[in-house]
Amino acid sequence: MHLVPASDDQKAQRDALTYAEWGPLLTVEGYAAREQRLRAHPWARADMRTWLLCSEEGAVLASCETFRTDSFLRAPGGGLLPGDSFAIASVFTEERLRGRGYATRLMDLLAAELERQPRAHAALLFSDVGPRIYARSGYRELPAWDWHLSPAPGAPGESVDVLLGEADVARGLARLRRPDAPFFFWPTPPQLDWHLERGRIYVEHLDCSPPASCGATVGDATALWGLVGRSAELTVLMLDARSPGEATALLKAARREASRAGLSRVVLWEEPGLAPLLPLVEGATRVARQGSLPMVRPLRPDLPPAPLPPVPRGLWV
Ligand SMILES: CC(C)(COP(=O)(O)OP(=O)(O)OC[C@H]1O[C@@H](n2cnc3c(N)ncnc32)[C@H](O)[C@@H]1OP(=O)(O)O)[C@@H](O)C(=O)NCCC(=O)NCCS
Repeated sequence: MHLVPASDDQKAQRDALTYAEWGPLLTVEGYAAREQRLRAHPWARADMRTWLLCSEEGAVLASCETFRTDSFLRAPGGGLLPGDSFAIASVFTEERLRGRGYATRLMDLLAAELERQPRAHAALLFSDVGPRIYARSGYRELPAWDWHLSPAPGAPGESVDVLLGEADVARGLARLRRPDAPFFFWPTPPQLDWHLERGRIYVEHLDCSPPASCGATVGDATALWGLVGRSAELTVLMLDARSPGEATALLKAARREASRAGLSRVVLWEEPGLAPLLPLVEGATRVARQGSLPMVRPLRPDLPPAPLPPVPRGLWV
Protein backbone atom coordinates (compact mmCIF):
# COMPACT_ATOMS: atom_id res chain seq x y z
CA MET A 1 0.00 0.00 0.00
CA HIS A 2 1.18 3.53 -0.70
CA LEU A 3 0.07 7.15 -0.33
CA VAL A 4 -0.50 9.41 -3.36
CA PRO A 5 -1.86 12.95 -3.85
CA ALA A 6 -5.24 12.83 -5.62
CA SER A 7 -5.80 14.27 -9.10
CA ASP A 8 -8.80 16.55 -9.74
CA ASP A 9 -10.73 13.62 -11.27
CA GLN A 10 -9.95 11.44 -8.27
CA LYS A 11 -11.14 14.20 -5.91
CA ALA A 12 -14.47 14.33 -7.78
CA GLN A 13 -14.76 10.53 -7.56
CA ARG A 14 -14.25 10.72 -3.77
CA ASP A 15 -16.94 13.46 -3.56
CA ALA A 16 -19.46 11.04 -5.07
CA LEU A 17 -18.61 8.48 -2.37
CA THR A 18 -18.43 10.85 0.63
CA TYR A 19 -21.78 12.52 -0.16
CA ALA A 20 -23.64 9.99 1.98
CA GLU A 21 -21.47 10.94 4.97
CA TRP A 22 -21.11 14.71 4.66
CA GLY A 23 -23.81 15.78 2.19
CA PRO A 24 -26.90 16.35 4.40
CA LEU A 25 -29.03 19.39 3.43
CA LEU A 26 -27.52 19.31 -0.08
CA THR A 27 -28.32 17.33 -3.22
CA VAL A 28 -25.58 15.14 -4.72
CA GLU A 29 -24.93 17.90 -7.27
CA GLY A 30 -25.08 20.58 -4.56
CA TYR A 31 -22.52 18.68 -2.49
CA ALA A 32 -20.18 18.28 -5.48
CA ALA A 33 -20.54 22.02 -6.13
CA ARG A 34 -19.85 22.75 -2.44
CA GLU A 35 -16.66 20.69 -2.55
CA GLN A 36 -15.50 22.40 -5.76
CA ARG A 37 -16.27 25.83 -4.34
CA LEU A 38 -14.44 25.12 -1.08
CA ARG A 39 -11.44 23.72 -2.98
CA ALA A 40 -11.40 26.90 -5.10
CA HIS A 41 -11.24 29.10 -1.99
CA PRO A 42 -7.85 30.88 -1.66
CA TRP A 43 -6.95 29.07 1.57
CA ALA A 44 -7.69 25.63 0.12
CA ARG A 45 -5.99 26.46 -3.20
CA ALA A 46 -2.81 27.37 -1.36
CA ASP A 47 -2.79 24.90 1.51
CA MET A 48 -5.12 21.93 0.92
CA ARG A 49 -4.12 18.50 -0.42
CA THR A 50 -6.23 15.36 -0.92
CA TRP A 51 -4.45 12.08 -0.19
CA LEU A 52 -5.29 8.56 -1.31
CA LEU A 53 -4.20 5.23 0.15
CA CYS A 54 -3.80 2.93 -2.86
CA SER A 55 -3.21 -0.79 -3.22
CA GLU A 56 -0.29 -2.05 -5.29
CA GLU A 57 -2.81 -2.50 -8.15
CA GLY A 58 -3.84 1.17 -7.85
CA ALA A 59 -7.26 0.71 -6.22
CA VAL A 60 -8.19 3.51 -3.82
CA LEU A 61 -8.65 2.10 -0.31
CA ALA A 62 -9.09 5.26 1.83
CA SER A 63 -8.69 9.04 1.57
CA CYS A 64 -8.30 12.24 3.57
CA GLU A 65 -7.38 15.89 3.21
CA THR A 66 -4.68 18.04 4.81
CA PHE A 67 -4.76 21.80 5.32
CA ARG A 68 -1.42 23.47 6.13
CA THR A 69 -1.81 25.64 9.21
CA ASP A 70 0.71 28.06 10.73
CA SER A 71 2.10 27.09 14.13
CA PHE A 72 4.66 28.57 16.50
CA LEU A 73 7.17 27.16 18.97
CA ARG A 74 8.24 29.48 21.74
CA ALA A 75 12.06 29.71 21.98
CA PRO A 76 13.69 29.86 25.46
CA GLY A 77 14.12 33.67 25.14
CA GLY A 78 10.41 34.08 24.35
CA GLY A 79 10.78 34.52 20.56
CA LEU A 80 8.47 32.60 18.23
CA LEU A 81 9.75 29.99 15.77
CA PRO A 82 7.24 29.67 12.92
CA GLY A 83 6.54 26.30 11.31
CA ASP A 84 3.96 24.27 9.45
CA SER A 85 1.30 22.12 11.01
CA PHE A 86 -1.28 20.09 9.14
CA ALA A 87 -4.96 19.81 9.98
CA ILE A 88 -6.40 16.53 8.69
CA ALA A 89 -10.01 16.27 7.53
CA SER A 90 -12.46 13.92 5.83
CA VAL A 91 -10.80 10.61 6.68
CA PHE A 92 -12.90 8.15 4.70
CA THR A 93 -13.04 4.46 3.83
CA GLU A 94 -15.88 3.11 1.69
CA GLU A 95 -18.27 1.02 3.73
CA ARG A 96 -17.41 -2.20 1.87
CA LEU A 97 -13.70 -1.73 2.74
CA ARG A 98 -14.03 -0.80 6.41
CA GLY A 99 -12.49 -2.68 9.36
CA ARG A 100 -9.38 -3.81 7.45
CA GLY A 101 -7.01 -1.20 8.89
CA TYR A 102 -6.97 1.03 5.80
CA ALA A 103 -7.74 4.32 7.63
CA THR A 104 -5.07 3.51 10.21
CA ARG A 105 -2.54 2.72 7.47
CA LEU A 106 -3.46 5.99 5.73
CA MET A 107 -2.88 7.96 8.96
CA ASP A 108 0.47 6.26 9.56
CA LEU A 109 1.77 6.81 6.02
CA LEU A 110 0.51 10.39 6.07
CA ALA A 111 2.31 11.13 9.37
CA ALA A 112 5.54 9.74 7.88
CA GLU A 113 5.05 11.95 4.80
CA LEU A 114 4.31 15.05 6.92
CA GLU A 115 7.30 14.41 9.19
CA ARG A 116 9.50 14.78 6.11
CA GLN A 117 8.25 18.35 5.47
CA PRO A 118 11.10 20.74 6.33
CA ARG A 119 9.18 23.01 8.75
CA ALA A 120 6.84 20.38 10.17
CA HIS A 121 5.58 20.94 13.72
CA ALA A 122 2.43 18.86 14.36
CA ALA A 123 -0.64 17.24 12.86
CA LEU A 124 -4.10 18.14 14.16
CA LEU A 125 -7.46 16.50 13.56
CA PHE A 126 -11.02 16.68 14.83
CA SER A 127 -12.37 13.19 15.41
CA ASP A 128 -16.05 12.40 14.92
CA VAL A 129 -15.41 8.75 15.80
CA GLY A 130 -13.81 9.04 19.22
CA PRO A 131 -10.12 8.95 20.11
CA ARG A 132 -9.25 5.25 19.79
CA ILE A 133 -8.60 4.87 16.07
CA TYR A 134 -6.37 7.96 15.91
CA ALA A 135 -4.59 7.28 19.23
CA ARG A 136 -3.19 4.17 17.51
CA SER A 137 -1.37 6.50 15.11
CA GLY A 138 0.11 8.68 17.86
CA TYR A 139 -2.59 11.34 18.32
CA ARG A 140 -3.46 12.63 21.81
CA GLU A 141 -6.89 13.99 22.57
CA LEU A 142 -7.61 17.39 24.10
CA PRO A 143 -10.56 18.21 26.35
CA ALA A 144 -13.63 19.14 24.26
CA TRP A 145 -16.15 21.40 25.99
CA ASP A 146 -18.48 23.92 24.39
CA TRP A 147 -20.32 26.89 25.84
CA HIS A 148 -23.82 27.63 24.57
CA LEU A 149 -25.61 30.96 24.86
CA SER A 150 -29.13 31.76 23.73
CA PRO A 151 -29.84 34.60 21.26
CA ALA A 152 -30.80 37.86 22.98
CA PRO A 153 -32.70 40.86 21.63
CA GLY A 154 -31.03 44.23 21.26
CA ALA A 155 -28.52 46.11 19.14
CA PRO A 156 -25.32 44.00 18.82
CA GLY A 157 -23.05 47.05 18.85
CA GLU A 158 -24.25 48.47 22.16
CA SER A 159 -22.12 46.36 24.53
CA VAL A 160 -18.85 46.68 22.55
CA ASP A 161 -16.54 49.36 21.08
CA VAL A 162 -16.84 48.26 17.45
CA LEU A 163 -18.54 45.53 15.44
CA LEU A 164 -16.32 43.95 12.78
CA GLY A 165 -17.48 43.16 9.24
CA GLU A 166 -16.12 40.59 6.75
CA ALA A 167 -13.57 43.13 5.51
CA ASP A 168 -12.24 43.50 9.07
CA VAL A 169 -11.36 39.85 9.75
CA ALA A 170 -7.63 40.39 9.12
CA ARG A 171 -7.61 43.46 11.40
CA GLY A 172 -9.50 41.57 14.10
CA LEU A 173 -7.13 38.60 13.87
CA ALA A 174 -4.09 40.87 14.11
CA ARG A 175 -5.48 42.31 17.38
CA LEU A 176 -5.81 38.90 19.03
CA ARG A 177 -3.09 38.29 21.59
CA ARG A 178 -1.18 35.05 20.91
CA PRO A 179 -1.57 32.28 23.50
CA ASP A 180 1.06 32.23 26.22
CA ALA A 181 1.86 28.58 25.40
CA PRO A 182 5.12 26.82 24.46
CA PHE A 183 3.50 25.68 21.19
CA PHE A 184 0.37 26.83 19.42
CA PHE A 185 -1.44 26.83 16.07
CA TRP A 186 -2.57 30.13 14.61
CA PRO A 187 -4.98 30.69 11.69
CA THR A 188 -4.55 33.15 8.82
CA PRO A 189 -7.26 35.56 7.56
CA PRO A 190 -7.99 33.37 4.46
CA GLN A 191 -8.30 30.36 6.78
CA LEU A 192 -10.99 32.12 8.81
CA ASP A 193 -12.69 33.28 5.62
CA TRP A 194 -12.89 29.63 4.51
CA HIS A 195 -15.25 29.07 7.46
CA LEU A 196 -17.36 32.04 6.37
CA GLU A 197 -17.37 30.60 2.82
CA ARG A 198 -18.97 27.44 4.22
CA GLY A 199 -21.64 29.64 5.79
CA ARG A 200 -22.19 31.47 2.48
CA ILE A 201 -22.87 28.09 0.87
CA TYR A 202 -25.26 26.87 3.57
CA VAL A 203 -27.17 30.08 4.34
CA GLU A 204 -29.56 29.56 1.43
CA HIS A 205 -30.53 26.16 2.87
CA LEU A 206 -31.18 27.49 6.37
CA ASP A 207 -34.03 29.59 7.68
CA CYS A 208 -31.85 32.56 8.67
CA SER A 209 -30.02 35.60 7.29
CA PRO A 210 -26.26 35.99 6.96
CA PRO A 211 -24.99 37.64 10.17
CA ALA A 212 -24.22 41.31 9.47
CA SER A 213 -21.14 41.31 11.71
CA CYS A 214 -18.17 38.91 11.96
CA GLY A 215 -16.95 39.91 15.38
CA ALA A 216 -16.41 42.76 17.78
CA THR A 217 -13.80 44.49 19.92
CA VAL A 218 -13.97 45.93 23.40
CA GLY A 219 -10.85 47.43 25.00
CA ASP A 220 -7.99 45.06 24.11
CA ALA A 221 -10.36 42.11 23.69
CA THR A 222 -11.56 40.71 20.35
CA ALA A 223 -14.00 38.11 19.09
CA LEU A 224 -14.46 36.73 15.57
CA TRP A 225 -17.59 34.76 14.69
CA GLY A 226 -19.78 33.63 11.82
CA LEU A 227 -22.31 31.25 10.36
CA VAL A 228 -19.91 28.51 9.35
CA GLY A 229 -21.77 25.35 8.39
CA ARG A 230 -25.03 23.50 8.15
CA SER A 231 -26.26 24.46 11.64
CA ALA A 232 -28.11 27.74 12.01
CA GLU A 233 -25.80 28.85 14.83
CA LEU A 234 -23.42 31.73 15.41
CA THR A 235 -20.05 30.06 15.92
CA VAL A 236 -17.29 31.92 17.73
CA LEU A 237 -14.12 31.22 15.75
CA MET A 238 -11.64 33.12 17.93
CA LEU A 239 -12.03 34.80 21.31
CA ASP A 240 -9.39 36.76 23.20
CA ALA A 241 -10.86 38.03 26.46
CA ARG A 242 -8.89 38.37 29.69
CA SER A 243 -11.63 39.40 32.12
CA PRO A 244 -15.22 38.29 32.76
CA GLY A 245 -16.33 41.81 31.77
CA GLU A 246 -14.66 41.60 28.36
CA ALA A 247 -16.02 38.10 27.73
CA THR A 248 -19.53 39.16 28.77
CA ALA A 249 -19.50 42.26 26.53
CA LEU A 250 -18.29 40.36 23.45
CA LEU A 251 -20.63 37.42 23.95
CA LYS A 252 -23.57 39.75 24.53
CA ALA A 253 -22.88 41.27 21.10
CA ALA A 254 -22.68 37.72 19.66
CA ARG A 255 -26.02 36.79 21.28
CA ARG A 256 -27.66 39.87 19.81
CA GLU A 257 -26.17 39.18 16.37
CA ALA A 258 -27.51 35.62 16.58
CA SER A 259 -30.98 36.98 17.37
CA ARG A 260 -30.82 39.55 14.56
CA ALA A 261 -29.84 36.85 12.01
CA GLY A 262 -32.49 34.37 13.20
CA LEU A 263 -29.93 31.86 14.53
CA SER A 264 -30.74 29.38 17.29
CA ARG A 265 -27.72 29.93 19.61
CA VAL A 266 -24.13 31.04 20.04
CA VAL A 267 -21.53 28.27 20.32
CA LEU A 268 -18.02 28.81 21.70
CA TRP A 269 -15.24 26.24 22.10
CA GLU A 270 -13.59 26.32 25.53
CA GLU A 271 -9.83 26.94 25.59
CA PRO A 272 -7.69 26.75 28.75
CA GLY A 273 -7.29 30.55 28.90
CA LEU A 274 -11.06 31.08 28.74
CA ALA A 275 -12.06 28.32 31.17
CA PRO A 276 -11.91 30.47 34.35
CA LEU A 277 -13.88 33.35 32.75
CA LEU A 278 -16.79 31.61 31.09
CA PRO A 279 -18.55 30.39 34.27
CA LEU A 280 -18.83 34.08 35.18
CA VAL A 281 -20.67 34.96 31.95
CA GLU A 282 -24.38 35.06 32.74
CA GLY A 283 -26.47 32.67 30.66
CA ALA A 284 -23.50 30.62 29.38
CA THR A 285 -23.92 26.84 29.72
CA ARG A 286 -21.06 24.31 29.48
CA VAL A 287 -21.78 21.16 27.47
CA ALA A 288 -19.64 18.19 26.40
CA ARG A 289 -18.93 18.54 22.69
CA GLN A 290 -20.49 16.01 20.33
CA GLY A 291 -17.89 15.10 17.70
CA SER A 292 -14.97 17.30 16.60
CA LEU A 293 -12.67 15.96 19.32
CA PRO A 294 -9.33 17.77 18.84
CA MET A 295 -6.31 15.45 18.68
CA VAL A 296 -2.67 16.39 18.14
CA ARG A 297 0.35 14.39 17.00
CA PRO A 298 3.89 15.84 17.07
CA LEU A 299 5.78 15.71 13.77
CA ARG A 300 9.17 16.47 15.34
CA PRO A 301 10.74 14.99 18.47
CA ASP A 302 11.36 18.24 20.37
CA LEU A 303 7.76 19.50 20.35
CA PRO A 304 6.86 20.17 24.02
CA PRO A 305 4.72 17.20 25.14
CA ALA A 306 2.70 19.33 27.57
CA PRO A 307 0.59 21.33 27.84
CA LEU A 308 -1.27 20.46 24.65
CA PRO A 309 -1.92 23.62 22.59
CA PRO A 310 -5.17 25.60 22.75
CA VAL A 311 -7.49 24.74 19.86
CA PRO A 312 -10.04 27.46 19.00
CA ARG A 313 -12.87 26.65 16.59
CA GLY A 314 -11.14 28.75 13.91
CA LEU A 315 -8.67 25.87 13.44
CA TRP A 316 -11.33 23.28 12.68
CA VAL A 317 -11.36 21.61 9.25
C1 LIG B 1 -13.88 5.98 10.48
C2 LIG B 1 -13.40 5.26 9.22
C3 LIG B 1 -12.56 6.23 8.39
C4 LIG B 1 -12.56 4.07 9.63
O1 LIG B 1 -12.07 3.45 8.46
P1 LIG B 1 -11.48 1.95 8.48
O2 LIG B 1 -10.66 1.79 7.24
O3 LIG B 1 -12.56 0.99 8.73
O4 LIG B 1 -10.53 2.08 9.76
P2 LIG B 1 -9.59 0.98 10.42
O5 LIG B 1 -9.91 -0.37 9.89
O6 LIG B 1 -8.18 1.45 10.37
O7 LIG B 1 -10.05 1.11 11.94
C5 LIG B 1 -11.37 0.79 12.26
C6 LIG B 1 -11.64 1.27 13.65
O8 LIG B 1 -12.43 2.47 13.58
C7 LIG B 1 -13.50 2.32 14.48
N1 LIG B 1 -14.65 3.11 14.04
C8 LIG B 1 -15.18 3.22 12.80
N2 LIG B 1 -16.28 3.99 12.84
C9 LIG B 1 -16.41 4.40 14.12
C10 LIG B 1 -17.35 5.21 14.79
N3 LIG B 1 -18.38 5.77 14.15
N4 LIG B 1 -17.17 5.43 16.13
C11 LIG B 1 -16.14 4.88 16.80
N5 LIG B 1 -15.22 4.08 16.21
C12 LIG B 1 -15.37 3.84 14.89
C13 LIG B 1 -13.82 0.85 14.40
O9 LIG B 1 -14.58 0.47 15.52
C14 LIG B 1 -12.44 0.24 14.42
O10 LIG B 1 -11.95 0.19 15.71
P3 LIG B 1 -11.16 -1.08 16.27
O11 LIG B 1 -10.19 -1.49 15.19
O12 LIG B 1 -10.51 -0.58 17.51
O13 LIG B 1 -12.23 -2.09 16.49
C15 LIG B 1 -14.60 4.75 8.38
O14 LIG B 1 -15.47 4.02 9.22
C16 LIG B 1 -15.41 5.85 7.69
O15 LIG B 1 -15.07 6.26 6.60
N6 LIG B 1 -16.46 6.32 8.36
C17 LIG B 1 -17.32 7.38 7.81
C18 LIG B 1 -16.59 8.72 7.76
C19 LIG B 1 -16.05 9.13 9.11
O16 LIG B 1 -16.75 9.14 10.12
N7 LIG B 1 -14.76 9.49 9.12
C20 LIG B 1 -14.05 9.89 10.32
C21 LIG B 1 -14.15 11.34 10.50
S1 LIG B 1 -13.19 11.88 11.91
